[in-house]
Amino acid sequence: MAINADQRLAAALSRLDSATAHLEAPFAIVDLAAFHANAATMVSRAAGKPIRLATKSVRCRHLIEQVLALEGFRGVLAYTLPEALWLANLGTSDDIVVAYPTVNRSALAALAADVLAAASIAVMVDSTDHLDVIEKAMAGVADPHPVRVAIDLDAGYEALGGRFRAGARRSPVRTPATAGELARAVMSRPGLQLVGLMAYESQIAGVGDNPPGRPLYARAIRVMQHKSAAELSERRAAIVAAVRTLTPLEFVNGGGTGSLEGTSAEEAVTEIGAGSGLYHPTLFDAYRGFTGQPAAMFALPVVRRPGPGVVTALGGGYPASGASSPSRVPSPYLPGGLRLDRDEAAGEVQTPLLGPAADNLRIGDKVWLRHAKAGELCERFNELHLVDGSSVVAIVPTYRGEGQNFG
Ligand SMILES: Cc1ncc(COP(=O)(O)O)c(C=O)c1O
Repeated sequence: MAINADQRLAAALSRLDSATAHLEAPFAIVDLAAFHANAATMVSRAAGKPIRLATKSVRCRHLIEQVLALEGFRGVLAYTLPEALWLANLGTSDDIVVAYPTVNRSALAALAADVLAAASIAVMVDSTDHLDVIEKAMAGVADPHPVRVAIDLDAGYEALGGRFRAGARRSPVRTPATAGELARAVMSRPGLQLVGLMAYESQIAGVGDNPPGRPLYARAIRVMQHKSAAELSERRAAIVAAVRTLTPLEFVNGGGTGSLEGTSAEEAVTEIGAGSGLYHPTLFDAYRGFTGQPAAMFALPVVRRPGPGVVTALGGGYPASGASSPSRVPSPYLPGGLRLDRDEAAGEVQTPLLGPAADNLRIGDKVWLRHAKAGELCERFNELHLVDGSSVVAIVPTYRGEGQNFG
């Protein structure tokens, strides 16, 4: 017999409450069955192209290593060079691309001084200024190892002669000519080795095309994404072809969780960078093309009952980064039928939860919430409780729990 959404939520609540009955809230969990189901969906959506795991979206070494052992995932997309050095030193991966430029002189010097790190890590550049910073840091190292470099391309969408733009402000390199020029500049510097290109289309991979309750906006997003995907696939292919005439490339990275199937269909792209889909936070509920299972969530204790139809939970104010909007705050998940108070939302030390379901909650009960984004949840907790079925099978540290904060 098919079960409906309410029954599914009730079953999830009863399973998670029973698995964690011994824990004191607040705490965070990862539901392993959902996590692995999401990993399998991502691999199938990538249709044979390897997924380079975006570590910012996981921020837990144990889970990163579990995912890297799965077929379909290869290498990591780190977010800072100190993080990349840490992961390389610990043996988590020997295939690391740092997705954002670094100006950290001591980390660059450490990279050039260490044979293992230098062979394992590529750093991102988008201008000759970045090349100067790298070379200057290398100058202080006796017998530096060559530094592996990748070029970040602007994958944003522009129309109306540049008056309309969608996509993250990243790189100024946008054309085959400017990419070729920077590639030649890298190649002219003896200590640097050009190994790859990256072009992340945030306006497609990170923007849901089905935002709840906003049909007109949804239509505008779909039109923009359709045009952007067509424009980018041609431009990306032309840039890759131009740079490949100058030097062989180990990888061309593109895409993210929201664009796995579209980006992987582009011949010029050799791998996808993605990670958020593993935890499947609420921002990824807003896509028509795929679904995932909530895998990461946090439990808060009910500490007050201010009146009928409302309970107050301890803590919970963990907004996601990005332009602030209601979609960036945590969402009540279990029990079903709770909502945030519009005026208070999720607060620094307490979060009121409204709705008829509140009347069935007692002081000391738990409520479960989902974060809007993926890895940022791990900046709030030292550990993740890994739930398998109806039990907690392991407790593993987050980056924060290992004393690591990479910004
Ligand atoms: C360079 C790059 N690639 C890929 C992604 C996609 O990551 P995810 O799939 O974890 O959202 C991001 C996210 O910001 C990114 O900055």
